[in-house]
Amino acid sequence: MDLERLQQQAQTAICDAADLAALEVVRVTYLGKKGRLTEVLKTLGQQDPAERPKLGQAVNQLKQTLLVQIEGKQHDLQQTQLMEQLSTETVDVTLPARQSHPLGSLHPVSHVSQRINSFFYQLGFSVVEGPEIETDYYNFTALNIPQHHPARAMHDTFYFADGRLLRTHTSPVQIREMEHRKPPIRLIAPGRVYRCDSDVTHTPMFHQVEGLYVDEQVSFAHLRSTLQNFFNYFFEQTVPLRFRTSYFPFTEPSAEVDIQCTHCQGAGCRICKSTGWLEVLGCGMVHPNVLQAVNIDSERYTGWAFGLGIDRLAMLRYNIDDLRVLFANDVRFLTQFSG
Ligand code: PHE
Repeated sequence: MDLERLQQQAQTAICDAADLAALEVVRVTYLGKKGRLTEVLKTLGQQDPAERPKLGQAVNQLKQTLLVQIEGKQHDLQQTQLMEQLSTETVDVTLPARQSHPLGSLHPVSHVSQRINSFFYQLGFSVVEGPEIETDYYNFTALNIPQHHPARAMHDTFYFADGRLLRTHTSPVQIREMEHRKPPIRLIAPGRVYRCDSDVTHTPMFHQVEGLYVDEQVSFAHLRSTLQNFFNYFFEQTVPLRFRTSYFPFTEPSAEVDIQCTHCQGAGCRICKSTGWLEVLGCGMVHPNVLQAVNIDSERYTGWAFGLGIDRLAMLRYNIDDLRVLFANDVRFLTQFSG
């Protein structure tokens, strides 16, 4: 076989290869296992023994030469392909980016909390906070619930080993604030509270907002009108209220307040268990013993207080019928409140 001719043929084929696939065909044709060069090597046996080494060397050299040329051509073709891609495929850098981190939004309880805050803030009430881990004194004793008082049993308290506890209501914030402020005192204290209780309508953690107003001549009538205005504002409609006498150790007289069911307007439905009314808060006139415990003259000053369930209001406002979904952290639920 004429090696020179073979070389010429191969080099022409390499040169003519129009793309990478064609080049690969050329490579296999000449250098592959059954390629033309291998064929030549197979014929070595028939050659004159003196000529064999020379011929074998020449074939190997040709193999190397062709390999280098193929690689060079491969590089050229890849380069051309890249240039072509760069000139035809364009990137629109002005396109809006895909959102890889979805934006969060306020929790429905936060929405409702802010709404409550904004109403009372406009009335001149300050918004304050207190600790969630409380002492027995602030959660009970100072609120006229002494040791062994039966009201303690109703609170389903979580205790720590050292005697401290998770606050069962926001009322201890009343005490903490009255300790260092002088009347007139107007405040609301929203926050988490804890009771050892769990079913469709109770979660071990829930939210309350405490309201407190202490000044000269503060009356129950004032409490009533404040609450009436608040609920009208909150539900954006006139909401009939019902005061039922009740008992709290830290208020006297005490009442529980029902609002007419905002779902059925009092006609009776599943939400209000066909009663037409929904219990939403406890309230009353601050007990003189409580004022005395924080050195406020109970002869000169009177006050009212209320404790309102925030989660309940969120459920009513957003038509949620299971309290537990508020705390399940399911984004499919939470993203519905991003507006
Ligand atoms: N702290 C009471 C409760 O959690 C509610 C309340 C607050 C009642 C203030 C009267 C005055 O049940």
